[in-house]
Amino acid sequence: MKAAALFLVLAALAGCEKRLPDIDPLSGGSPRAGKELIERFGCVACHRIKGITGPRSKVGPSLEEIRQASYVAGVMPNSPGNLVKWIMDPREVDPKTAMPDLGVTEAEARDMAAYLYNQ
Ligand code: HEC
Repeated sequence: MKAAALFLVLAALAGCEKRLPDIDPLSGGSPRAGKELIERFGCVACHRIKGITGPRSKVGPSLEEIRQASYVAGVMPNSPGNLVKWIMDPREVDPKTAMPDLGVTEAEARDMAAYLYNQ
């Protein structure tokens, strides 16, 4: 009985959505909008991202620690501007990358970067 109650509490806690800030000061984007965009563009088909369920793919690197990363895709220093640039047009940055251009606009990429920095 006690175990069942504990399970219910843990299940409820796990279901809690993380509170996202309205605007991410680093990128100037909206983490909430970014989360929806990341879901819509299906980034989790290739990446692991906190708070977004997916196949736990290993096609691309996990983005769970991207805030702490020194480089974006190993080719550009990790800054909000470079992260946005990468999400919009990875093959312009690195023509050999396996990540496809997904037709993301600059505003969309900024919101996605905002979520990635706040996941
Ligand atoms: C078809 C698979 C695929 C999809 C879909 C995809 N990516 Fe990627 N992504 C990759 C691969 C592969 C890399 C590694 C690229 C490299 O290092 O050259 C990568 C790298 C990245 C990086 C740099 C990671 C790092 O550790 O430096 C970011 C950020 C990123 N992707 C964001 C996104 C976002 C946001 C989306 C959705 C809009 C997305 N990706 C969709 C395959 C994908």
